[in-house]
Amino acid sequence: MQSGDVLRQRYKIIQSIGGGGFGDTYLALDHDFPDNRKCVVKHLAPKNSDPQAIAIATRLFKKEAQCLSRLGEHHNIPRLYAYFEEDGEFYLVQEFIEGHTLNSEFQPGKQWSEKETVDFLRELLEILAFVHQQGTIHRDVKPGNIMRADKDGKLFLIDFGAVKEKLSVDDSGQPTVVIGTPSYMPPEQATGNPKKSSDIYSVGILGIQALTGKAAHGLPRDEEELKQIIEELPIDTQIQYVLGRMVSFQHKNRFADGTEALQALIPTIVEPKPPKKTSNSPKIVLFTLLGAIALIGAGLYTLLPPKQPSYQALEVYLQNKEWSKADPETQRLLLEIANEQTTLDKESIAQFPCESLKTIDKLWAANSDGKFGFTPQKQAYLETGNQIGQYVESAYEDFGNKVGWRIFDSWNLYGDLKFTDIAPMAHLPSPGKSGNEKELRWRERGMLLERVDECGI
Ligand SMILES: Nc1ncnc2c1ncn2[C@@H]1O[C@H](COP(=O)(O)OP(=O)(O)O)[C@@H](O)[C@H]1O
Ligand SMILES: [Mg+2]
Repeated sequence: MQSGDVLRQRYKIIQSIGGGGFGDTYLALDHDFPDNRKCVVKHLAPKNSDPQAIAIATRLFKKEAQCLSRLGEHHNIPRLYAYFEEDGEFYLVQEFIEGHTLNSEFQPGKQWSEKETVDFLRELLEILAFVHQQGTIHRDVKPGNIMRADKDGKLFLIDFGAVKEKLSVDDSGQPTVVIGTPSYMPPEQATGNPKKSSDIYSVGILGIQALTGKAAHGLPRDEEELKQIIEELPIDTQIQYVLGRMVSFQHKNRFADGTEALQALIPTIVEPKPPKKTSNSPKIVLFTLLGAIALIGAGLYTLLPPKQPSYQALEVYLQNKEWSKADPETQRLLLEIANEQTTLDKESIAQFPCESLKTIDKLWAANSDGKFGFTPQKQAYLETGNQIGQYVESAYEDFGNKVGWRIFDSWNLYGDLKFTDIAPMAHLPSPGKSGNEKELRWRERGMLLERVDECGI
């Protein structure tokens, strides 16, 4: 195909944007849309000209296209606009992502920070969790198949290789080629038996690559050596543990799929921490743990990681803007972290871990465009004339008025709060209700905001 060609009297090829062993990728314009929207046309040309092979390929192509069409419903996977066969050749038309592939961000010598890496792993695993839930395996997770959108920096997973693989089946229906890229491919995939956890291995390699700045092909093809590299990284031991499991050569020793890997990673989604590697003990704990895992078998793994508060439920509620669920969940988390039953007292507030406050604050802010969270609350607190370390009733009441926790000169009950987008700035997360009385524990929040300030939030 060349520029100017029009497919189905509709898709006009503009230029080639990629070519693999199995077909070519083009930027095209869709003339059926008023603005001639851009799209990507993938032309898949089966190598085998045997009619029977083509018949199988056609059937599988359709099946696979159905699957891609489901996957494209995810925000971070290009939408499938059309698939068709013309003159024995196959075409997929998909959403054009304005952006760049991560090849440019994974340049050898370029190291990512721990936080950048963890954020990246999480974003990628969220997409893979969905792919795996749909019963699909990507098989070729690597920088060239991940794009970052220009408009908001969000990641997209592209190039679902299953179609390519199934187009090259032999007569018995067996794949004749192994799909994937050697450096990112775990052993079972290299021998033609990919699992969902094969994608997890690739993610682990990407993580090591990001943190070390090494080219993937420069990494050892040996489990022990890979784990040695991870052990030497100056990062949180939980992340070391997660990466170590991801790159296990035995697929059963890895996380089974994106969802499981994400769960293990989520407790570590925190602000950057100073390296913890002042003594040997965390390493010993980690590798004893890995050793134990290898011996005990898959069933017990989830029991072994160190117990940390899980922000997962909170995150899900916030992402869905279910404020009325996110609010009590925040309260529950605050109590759990402080190891308290009903209220946070002065002492537990004074010792409250900064990292957890930051995480909770960040989750609220990120999902509300900065409207909710401790940061806007502290701002309202200061703007109404309150001073850190000093409780002045009238100023504190002004703060309560400003964030909508008071009405007609008295403090609201918990049931008076607004859990919709029309809530005033900094209204949520609320200070929660006291045990049976349903009263807002307004005073407690003042103390917590002082801790927030102390934590530099
Ligand atoms: N939906 C898309 N939007 C924008 N660019 C894309 C899209 N899909 C693919 N590309 C570009 O085309 C290149 C090749 O596409 P890809 O699907 O990875 O096929 P292959 O690796 O088999 O050639 C990608 O690396 C990317 O630069
Ligand atoms: Mg590709």
